[in-house]
Amino acid sequence: MARVFITGSADGLGKMAAQLLVEQGHTVVLHARNDARGHEALNSLPGAESVVIGDLSIIRQTREVADQVNALGVFDAVIHNAGVGYREPKRVGTEDGLPQVFAVNTLAPYILTALIRRPKRLVYLSSGLHQQGDTSLKDLTWEKRRWQGQQAYSDTKLQDVLLAFAVARWWPDVFSNAVEPGWVATKMGSAAATDDLDQGHRTQVWLAVSDDPAANVTGEYFYHMRGRTPKPATREVELQDKFLDACRKISGIELPQ
Ligand SMILES: NC(=O)c1ccc[n+]([C@@H]2O[C@H](COP(=O)([O-])OP(=O)(O)OC[C@H]3O[C@@H](n4cnc5c(N)ncnc54)[C@H](OP(=O)(O)O)[C@@H]3O)[C@@H](O)[C@H]2O)c1
Repeated sequence: MARVFITGSADGLGKMAAQLLVEQGHTVVLHARNDARGHEALNSLPGAESVVIGDLSIIRQTREVADQVNALGVFDAVIHNAGVGYREPKRVGTEDGLPQVFAVNTLAPYILTALIRRPKRLVYLSSGLHQQGDTSLKDLTWEKRRWQGQQAYSDTKLQDVLLAFAVARWWPDVFSNAVEPGWVATKMGSAAATDDLDQGHRTQVWLAVSDDPAANVTGEYFYHMRGRTPKPATREVELQDKFLDACRKISGIELPQ
């Protein structure tokens, strides 16, 4: 049985993944943005071991999340699931001066990957919209571009794939993969979503804990438990390293080799 940490597990796909893992007998540590959401998360999933608290839009709090996780010991798997969606009508600035969507969807997984003691498996939630992400990596923090919520979101989901693939290359002893859950009816996906909600959380659970040889791979992109071809640029080593370097400069935190 495995021990798994899941970010953003008070709701949506993170909560569904946590539930499934608990049902399968695994040990799960939840994560929520604040104490109130943490209580709600634990109340709705009493089988979870505990909950870690921190707002992932704030670098200081993201560091604290990593500290709390490390204080609980080493995990077998971490699922980087927390995210904010594509409908932000304007650039919502964080206290670090970053766009919220970039801080939560891109920088937080980078920081947590760098600071949490290395697990055996890492899973990063991407999206089909990553195909529309900007591969120039120019103006990651939207200071020069006119704000476009869907483009900003798509960029972060491309960056999540770059992160998964870069980590797979940097840390060959870790399985590091990206997942496209499909457009499903969570708070983020909305009731209009057309894909199968019951498939939305299964691939990340499978990648986190399964002994299936098909899940014991690294540097791959999955949709509904099958490999899918990601945007070709995500395979470019130079682009991956350029992305890591940008995250290092923005966060002041280095990904260990
Ligand atoms: N749903 C889809 O159609 C879809 C499609 C493609 C990819 N995805 C990806 O799947 C992942 C999960 O999405 P979802 O559909 O489950 O979304 P969701 O229902 O909105 O859940 C997102 C989770 O992230 C948490 N979160 C957001 N901002 C946070 C912050 N600043 N600090 C801490 N936690 C924060 C939320 O906390 P609160 O509950 O407190 O807000 C919630 O638990 C995301 O990475 C998303 O990009 C989803």
